[in-house]
Amino acid sequence: MRKNQFIGFAFVSVCLWALVTYYLFLDRPLNHKSDQKQIQVEEHLSLLESKLKEQFLDSEKLLQQLRSVINEQQLSVKVSEDREEERGVIEEELPGKQQNKGEDEQVNRVRSFAEKILPDGGPVIAVLVFACNRITVSKCIDQLLKYRPSREQFPIVVSQDCGHRPTADVIELYGDEITRIEQPDQNDIPVPPKEKKFKGYFKIARHYGWALNYTFFRFNFDTVIIVEDDLDVAPDFFEYFLGTYPILKRDATLWCVSAWNDNGKVGLVDENAPDLLYRTDFFPGLGWMLTKSTWAELAPKWPSSYWDDWVRQPEQRRNRACIRPEISRTRTFGKIGVSNGHFYEKHLKYIKLNEKFVPFTQKNLTYLMKDNYDVQFVKEVYESPLVTYQELKSGSIVAEGSVRIPYHTNDVYKRTAKMLGLMDDFRVSAGMQ
Ligand SMILES: *[C@@H]1O[C@H](CO)[C@@H](O)[C@H](O)[C@H]1NC(C)=O
Ligand SMILES: *[C@@H]1O[C@H](CO)[C@@H](O)[C@H](O)[C@H]1NC(C)=O
Repeated sequence: MRKNQFIGFAFVSVCLWALVTYYLFLDRPLNHKSDQKQIQVEEHLSLLESKLKEQFLDSEKLLQQLRSVINEQQLSVKVSEDREEERGVIEEELPGKQQNKGEDEQVNRVRSFAEKILPDGGPVIAVLVFACNRITVSKCIDQLLKYRPSREQFPIVVSQDCGHRPTADVIELYGDEITRIEQPDQNDIPVPPKEKKFKGYFKIARHYGWALNYTFFRFNFDTVIIVEDDLDVAPDFFEYFLGTYPILKRDATLWCVSAWNDNGKVGLVDENAPDLLYRTDFFPGLGWMLTKSTWAELAPKWPSSYWDDWVRQPEQRRNRACIRPEISRTRTFGKIGVSNGHFYEKHLKYIKLNEKFVPFTQKNLTYLMKDNYDVQFVKEVYESPLVTYQELKSGSIVAEGSVRIPYHTNDVYKRTAKMLGLMDDFRVSAGMQ
């Protein structure tokens, strides 16, 4: 029985082993199956994922399409709004168009004055008055109108800058006695930081460039007298320019005629010689006449500031001179603003304005032509007795007429000029004698 029991036990053990082994073996195919299932599931999942992705992409596309449709709609709305705005602007600009039309009419009208042949064959010379923000410009215009011998011969153009309404109102009061133009560019001018306080000079140069272009090239004047809004003029102001005009046209070594003597102070000028005229290498300005051919030369390179010192440079002056009188035909009645008030108080205030009418158009002024003048001038200078400032000051000179004080250096010139109360500044000259 014990042996049977053992056999029985062994049989059960074998069976158990077999069972365990079977299950162990069975386990693998089972796992394999689940792997397959997992693969299947994964395949499903990735399929689903790709489908989802597709759908997502589709929705994305759809969304994008939607967005672009919306954008287009917004754009078209905006464009139509813009068009409407444009239309509005055009409507608002209609008065501007009328202004343009008015401007063309003005140009045509003034042009016909500029190109008119006068009965006596004399020149038409425009007087261009520069105005900004001083209503006292009326003082200057009143005098011009008072002394103007002929409206046809001297059309007055007042150019205004600065957009100053009260000044514009004053100018408009003159109606068609004058022509009013306005510098259109009121934009701020970029000025180097160091020159901020000189911005006024930049504005003046811009105004001059624009207004001279307009007067010469649009109105088509051949000759222009330039005047600033703070000038008094002498009774023979127009006669002076008319008389010197033929010389300016004939002598290529002249580039301007100025009404101003820089040293024209009371006590320094010969008050008995109102008809005396000179040539000068130093541009005096302050009421001066310029021809179109000279402007055509200067205009393309016109500077952005300090135009008066610029025209004094050798490149612009090119050894040419201006005619100037012994006694000024203009005087400034004071300038608040750009110019130096101190300079007015010290110098400009004492400039003598001529009062006696000189019939320059009746005079023989050919002595001012370079060939005549230089010979005569050099002769007169070197025939004058040589004196020192001390001799002159002590009153020991009894000789009649002019005397000569020589100088050989800038310093001596400056010192002597100061002692005599003359302007002591000078500019570079291009190899002049
Ligand atoms: C004036 O006209 C000249 C020549 O047409 C031109 O070169 C220059 O730029 C103009 N200047 C101004 C300020 O309009
Ligand atoms: C004008 O003066 C010049 C000298 O400067 C002289 O030669 C000329 O003959 C004069 N002309 C008349 C018309 O008197």
